[in-house]
Amino acid sequence: MSTNSTSEVMIELDELTKTFPGQSVPAVDKLSLTIQKGEIVVFVGPSGCGKTTSMELINRLIEPTSGRIILEGEDVTDAQVDSLRRRIGYVIQETGLFPHRTIAQNIATVPGMIGWKKGRMDERVDELLGLIGMEPSQYRDRFPKELSGGQRQRVGVARAMAADPPVMLMDEPFGAIDPITRERLQNEFLRLQAQIQKTVVFVTHDIDEAIKMGDKIVVLKEQSHIAQFASPEEILSSPADDYVSDFIGQGASLKRLNLTRIRDIEMATDTPTGTAHEELSTLRQRLAESPWSTMMILDDQHRPMRWVGGRDLNRANAGEDIAKLGLPATATVEPQATLSDALNELITSNGGVAIVVDGSGVFQGVVDIESILTAVRTMREENSQFYLAQKEISEAID
Ligand SMILES: Nc1ncnc2c1ncn2[C@@H]1O[C@H](COP(=O)(O)OP(=O)(O)OP(=O)(O)O)[C@@H](O)[C@H]1O
Ligand SMILES: [Mg+2]
Repeated sequence: MSTNSTSEVMIELDELTKTFPGQSVPAVDKLSLTIQKGEIVVFVGPSGCGKTTSMELINRLIEPTSGRIILEGEDVTDAQVDSLRRRIGYVIQETGLFPHRTIAQNIATVPGMIGWKKGRMDERVDELLGLIGMEPSQYRDRFPKELSGGQRQRVGVARAMAADPPVMLMDEPFGAIDPITRERLQNEFLRLQAQIQKTVVFVTHDIDEAIKMGDKIVVLKEQSHIAQFASPEEILSSPADDYVSDFIGQGASLKRLNLTRIRDIEMATDTPTGTAHEELSTLRQRLAESPWSTMMILDDQHRPMRWVGGRDLNRANAGEDIAKLGLPATATVEPQATLSDALNELITSNGGVAIVVDGSGVFQGVVDIESILTAVRTMREENSQFYLAQKEISEAID
């Protein structure tokens, strides 16, 4: 999440309204909203409530019936649409890649429109493919149908970022993919966002995704009427009305696990580690001197390979391949993963812990169920103190 203390307004929507031709009621009715620079604002609401229409009004893919759009202090309601496209990247629902254009051509859509030279475009395409974890030489010249669903979603994100716009509109960017790939793409995007600090409007149906991705959440009712616009913490702890509570559904306290990230809690970094090139006796001694009963065998790039216990080491014969002892080191999470992600991983893990690795897979430490429970307990206490204080203040004002 962003920690902007100097908040600057990026987008202001002022009573934005769209009535489609032949319709008696507006699809979006007087939507007013202020979005700060560098924050991720998530629109969440049921199908048909006007999320996509609201996004398309912001970049004027459809023209508003009434109301204003202010971008960085400038009224762009009647501005040239071309100049808007340059400043606002758009990830279309269901990705909407052009099927007869290659991945490179898809990504270069906006740069092409605004007249970039070929060399600069090629460079940018390769840079973006690298950024989204797809080897340029392998993917540049493929067509969308030659990619998996998750890869198409990533290319959709890359296309929106191509001309480096300060604002990104993302309409269910990780919609129709399996939960594991989805979690990976979410984490990837959050990691990227920490570097690029875009202003992002993000649409989802899924309240858990909203809580994880959003600095702020807009819960929408039909016609894009705002039920609540607040931080994830506030939405979970004090939903504005029954509509919002129903939308959050059961398990609001479990959902809080989506609010805290691995990097925010204490992990154990004293796990003994070794490599497969070391002598058995060296490893045995290192493990014996530590308070742990297992040690982590890392590969040459310091990435986790195996969990090896004292018994594995004692039973092994000299010269035995250490990389085959013990159990595979599964259940890895990155620092920006949520406690919920970590809990899911460690429940099915070999060691009863989640292994924390950085973006390159390098071993950082481990998190166990105790550290997660401690974090949840602290969070709950802090939250109740915060809301008690808030209540006292508002009572004092009344
Ligand atoms: N071109 C159009 N002409 C007439 N009505 C439209 C048009 N596009 C959308 N609508 C209507 O406007 C309303 C809002 O649609 P919109 O696509 O914004 O919903 P949404 O919240 O994005 O839904 P979903 O979650 O299913 O994507 C719906 O009732 C829809 O039928
Ligand atoms: Mg939609």
